[in-house]
Amino acid sequence: MTDSHSSAYHRFAALPKAHLHVHLEAAMREETMRQWCAEDGVDAPPLVEFPDFTGFLDAYGLLISLLRTPERVERLLDEVVADAAAQGVVALEFASIPEKSAAFDSAEDALEFILRAAAEAGQRHGVWTGAIVSIDRGAGPDHARAAARLAARFADHGVVAVGLVADERDNPVACAAEAFGIARAAGLGVVPHSGELAGPEEVRSAIELGASRIQHGVRAIEDPRVLRLLAESRVCLDVCPSSNVVLDVAPSLRDHPLPELLTAGVRCSIGADDPLLFGVDVVDEYVLAHERMGIAEARLADCARTSIEFSFAPADLKRDALARIDDWVG
Ligand code: ADE
Ligand code: ZN
Repeated sequence: MTDSHSSAYHRFAALPKAHLHVHLEAAMREETMRQWCAEDGVDAPPLVEFPDFTGFLDAYGLLISLLRTPERVERLLDEVVADAAAQGVVALEFASIPEKSAAFDSAEDALEFILRAAAEAGQRHGVWTGAIVSIDRGAGPDHARAAARLAARFADHGVVAVGLVADERDNPVACAAEAFGIARAAGLGVVPHSGELAGPEEVRSAIELGASRIQHGVRAIEDPRVLRLLAESRVCLDVCPSSNVVLDVAPSLRDHPLPELLTAGVRCSIGADDPLLFGVDVVDEYVLAHERMGIAEARLADCARTSIEFSFAPADLKRDALARIDDWVG
């Protein structure tokens, strides 16, 4: 994490942005997580260092298991949205798997509660919120269909898209084709994780399946044809550099493909993915992109513009945020 008192942190916190790639449970504050672990008598999960992708998913699962009461879910949403406001986030699209919530009798109850708590927190802290219902790609076709139908029922009540998470090496994006169709028919966006652990062919598949945005997608860099396809399409990548380094998708920040993706004309937003697990918030990611990856402020302002343009936020909020980004550039 960069120094939150540094002038660079303040500068990028003042840049209006949408945060389009963040998993709700893993945006938990560290002190909250430690308090709940102590109350439940469980060991805190490892942070930032994981033996492998499965070890990372286990840590993520532990965070989900802490959310075993509605009060905890409500506190989580309040803190996540308050933190987003402090990070200059005007639109927050958070991903969640309601089916995994132990605090409620059904996924429907969980989602209804999450949406209400998010909307109330958004009002309190001045942040627009939209929910992405994640499909666990390892949980089979019945789960995928059920998650998409659930998302569709709440299409006009705070759900903006369906996502697709977990290990894409076992389950390519096509495993959710039917679920994506259900979501699209309900007017929802489709924002799968693709081109993270698997290669550029998965980015191409996601585009062909009608993705509105792709979470990660950075391995498109390995195939110039997929890069061109992305640059010519109306699909943006929601890129999370620190996540990619921690999970061995990229060797280091210095060698991360974000600068090259931008040079190739690919639209990219910047996100933090799992802030608690990777030790960065979305402002840190902008600071690291500037200081460690050499991306100029003007280009990072373009990433912020992309985040606003590709968000599902209302048009008046987007107009206002884009004007404020122009002011930030000066
Ligand atoms: N779930 C949470 N973070 C994820 C990631 N980076 N890749 C796949 N699934 C995830
Ligand atoms: Zn993610």
